[in-house]
Amino acid sequence: MQKVRKAIIPAAGYGTRFLPATKAMPKEMIPIVDKPTIQFIVEEAIASGIEDILIITGKLKRPIEDHFDSNPELEENLRAKGKEELLELVEETTGLNLYFARQAYPLGLGHAVLQAKAFVGDGPFVIMLGDDIMADDVPLTKQLIEGYEKTHASNIAVMRVPHEETANYGIIELEAQAGEGLYNVRKFIEKPEPDEAPSDLAIIGRYLLTPEIFDILEHLEPGKGGEIQLTDAIDILNKTQRVFAKEFKGERYDVGDKFGFLKTTIQYGLKHPQVKDRLKQYILDLAKELKSGNVDNQMAPKAPAPEHDKSNQQLK
Ligand code: G1P
Repeated sequence: MQKVRKAIIPAAGYGTRFLPATKAMPKEMIPIVDKPTIQFIVEEAIASGIEDILIITGKLKRPIEDHFDSNPELEENLRAKGKEELLELVEETTGLNLYFARQAYPLGLGHAVLQAKAFVGDGPFVIMLGDDIMADDVPLTKQLIEGYEKTHASNIAVMRVPHEETANYGIIELEAQAGEGLYNVRKFIEKPEPDEAPSDLAIIGRYLLTPEIFDILEHLEPGKGGEIQLTDAIDILNKTQRVFAKEFKGERYDVGDKFGFLKTTIQYGLKHPQVKDRLKQYILDLAKELKSGNVDNQMAPKAPAPEHDKSNQQLK
C-alpha cells in the first residue's frame, strides 16, 4: 500500500464574501489574530505526515507564495535586533516542500483539483479546503490517512450541519455503518435544498482520494452552478470503488464566512498568550454592557490599552 504523502490546497477562489478586503489580497492571507488562515491548513498537513503540498492559485495570489518563501532582509533585521522569537515565527514558514499551480479559469472545485493530476501521480492524496480550520486531538487529515490505512480506500470527512444549511454543502446519503464513525455511502449530492437532502451529514473540506478521481474529473460535465463539481466525481468513483465517509467529531471553525471568521478570531485570541487576558476582560465588560442594554446607542466599551512595546514599532 502506498503511503499518503501529498496534499493539494485549492486557493484560487475570489473570496467575494470578504470584499472589499479581498479586492487585491487573497482571502487565504486574512489572519486569525496573527496567522494567515492558509498557514493553519499547511500546519495541519504537516502535523498529519504530509510531505509535499501543492497550492492551486489564481490571479492576485502571489502573497501566498511570498508568505511561504524566505525573507532574508527581514530575517537579518530581526537577527540584528535580537528578536529571536519573531525570527522563529518567520522562519517557521520557509523551507517546506510547497509547490504552486495555477487554475487559469474558475471552472469549479473539480477543475481546480484536476490541475494537480501530474503532481499527484499514481498514489493516494488529500485535498484540504481553506475555508475551515479543524481542531481535534488527532488532526483531521491524519484521521483520514488512518482510515485509508485501514480501508485501503478513499475517505471523505463529513460532519452534521443544521438541516436548513444543506444547500451550502455536499451531502451524503447513507447506505450502512461500516465502523466507528465510518459509513458506506449510497450517494454524494452537491448542495441539495433541505427538502431534497437525504441527511444532515455534510462534506467539510477534507478528502482522501485515490488517483482514479482524475480520470473521472477529466470527462466530467459541469454540474451544480455550471461548475465541474468534485462531489459529482466522488459519486461516480463510489460506484467502482468504495468511498467511505468519516464523521468528524472535533471542532470546525468556518473562516470562509464573516460570522465564523469573527468567532474563530475570538476563540483563537482567547488562547493567544499576548492578548488572551485583555481579550477575556474586554468580552466580560462587553457582556455586562450588552446585558444592561447600553450598547445599542453607544460604542462598545473601550478595549484595554495595549501593552506598550516600543521595541516592535519599526516592524509593525
Ligand atoms: C465546496 C464543495 C462542497 C463542500 C464544501 C465544504 O463547496 O463543493 O461539496 O461541502 O466545499 O466547505 P464551496 O464551499 O466551495 O462552495
